[in-house]
Amino acid sequence: MSSGATAGVRTYKNYVNGEWLGGSSGETFAVYDPSTEEVIAQVAAAGSADVDLAVKAARAAFDGGPWSTTSAQDRGRVLFRLAEKIRQNSAMLAEIECRNTGKPIVEAEYDIADVATCFEYSNKVLGNVNPVPANALSFTLREPVGVAGQIIPWNYPLLMAAWKLAPALAAGCTCILKPAEQTPLTVLEVANWFREVGLPPGVVNIINGLGETAGAALVAHPGVDKIAFTGSAAVGKIIVKSAADTLKRVTLELGGKSPNIFFTDADWEASIDGALFGVFINQGEVCSAGSRILVEKKIYSKFVEAMKEKAKRIKLGAPFERETKMGPLVSKEQYDRVSSYLELGKKEAKVAIGGGRPKQFAKGYYVEPTIFYDVENTARIAREEIFGPVASVIPFDGEADAIRIANDTPYGLAAAVWTRDIYKAFRVVKSLRAGIVWVNHMQPTYVEAPWGGYKQSGFGRELGPWGLEEYLETKQVFVNLDETPIGWY
Ligand code: NAI
Ligand code: MG
Repeated sequence: MSSGATAGVRTYKNYVNGEWLGGSSGETFAVYDPSTEEVIAQVAAAGSADVDLAVKAARAAFDGGPWSTTSAQDRGRVLFRLAEKIRQNSAMLAEIECRNTGKPIVEAEYDIADVATCFEYSNKVLGNVNPVPANALSFTLREPVGVAGQIIPWNYPLLMAAWKLAPALAAGCTCILKPAEQTPLTVLEVANWFREVGLPPGVVNIINGLGETAGAALVAHPGVDKIAFTGSAAVGKIIVKSAADTLKRVTLELGGKSPNIFFTDADWEASIDGALFGVFINQGEVCSAGSRILVEKKIYSKFVEAMKEKAKRIKLGAPFERETKMGPLVSKEQYDRVSSYLELGKKEAKVAIGGGRPKQFAKGYYVEPTIFYDVENTARIAREEIFGPVASVIPFDGEADAIRIANDTPYGLAAAVWTRDIYKAFRVVKSLRAGIVWVNHMQPTYVEAPWGGYKQSGFGRELGPWGLEEYLETKQVFVNLDETPIGWY
């Protein structure tokens, strides 16, 4: 607990320069349990003065060292100690994540394990020697970008924090992280261990608050060298414009409208499972959700029917029940947004199942798993990111048609293709304009492999050596080996 726990409602502060600070305005905001709609925490809101303090702390920690000049191996040791702490406290973290997001406890447990793995992936920073002519030596140093501002969403709160913090710290950057205002709790708990594991003050700062205030102040601040953002495309565009004033480096992960493509020859049971899992995992609040389900005409009717039958078995329930497969959406705002798409979908397409609020819950932001079919790819429910348990099933006629529909979207984060024909599978893989393509699966993610989008799903990559790369500058060093004067003048 970061500070003064009272029964029920906990209070949290901002973590700046290794200290817990209330916001300078004294304002706080409420954090909810979306299954009960009750307030579970009050969090100190950071304004621009608090953001400024955090940036100064990160700036001083970067410019004065020693973090940025510590060996990559020593930084890796600190990250391993943090991972160990997270593993030791995984039950507590999963419980808070579950309570705050509404995601099923079993999924929260997977997330926390992934968080630890992410901190354990400490890729070493490599340089190289450039093959220039013999009278010179040229080599490349990789150095940390500097102070990184990191803004994350609410769907995988601690995991998104780990995806941002781990590579930045491995590279030697210092960070100011702004969690989503809906879900700041787990990363604030983890901050309690920063000192103990050996992170010097100022190396990681956490500021809480709204996007329009704390987030915007961080993006505009001249002391920040880089912004890494995950969230909506709308906010991504605002960030790029604001960051232009100080020419910050920017990386963006902006979600999508990812196609999940099923050919006639694919394994039937695996396909039905994969179609449902791809779009309903985490209540559909997933940037790579397979929200456009493209099905070959020959199997289309049977496929919709089979999805519908299996979707009836999806267990909605309280997030803490271990059999629960779908909890509530994260917030009233998200519930309202998704509900408005349900109404729109009823006008644009046919409903196979779902379409509203499940009757059994008196409270909580629950939405039924919903499958629309006979959806035109031009419909708004097929073009706009809904970020909830809403599938649009679209028929296609042959490989070329599948590729055409799949690519007909402003987004390009992810895609999946299901077939037993390896020729077809790899032709489709090469034709899809997306940053991640799964074959006969959808959603698995590994810390070793890159993550990020084409087109309006953003730019830059997270995870693996690619994620580290985004936190490194490249310095070319030229050494003259020829002692004779240049002789030019
Ligand atoms: P959002 O994009 O507004 O929020 C994401 C993060 O950005 C939060 O930390 C927020 O405080 C911050 N933010 C908001 N406005 C900002 C600004 N002007 N400057 C700097 N930071 C700012 O997403 P929101 O409103 O929570 O969800 C709306 C929709 O966004 C969802 O329905 C979904 O379609 C999409 N979304 C996509 C995500 C993804 O992983 N790709 C994650 C969350 C939302
Ligand atoms: Mg927003």
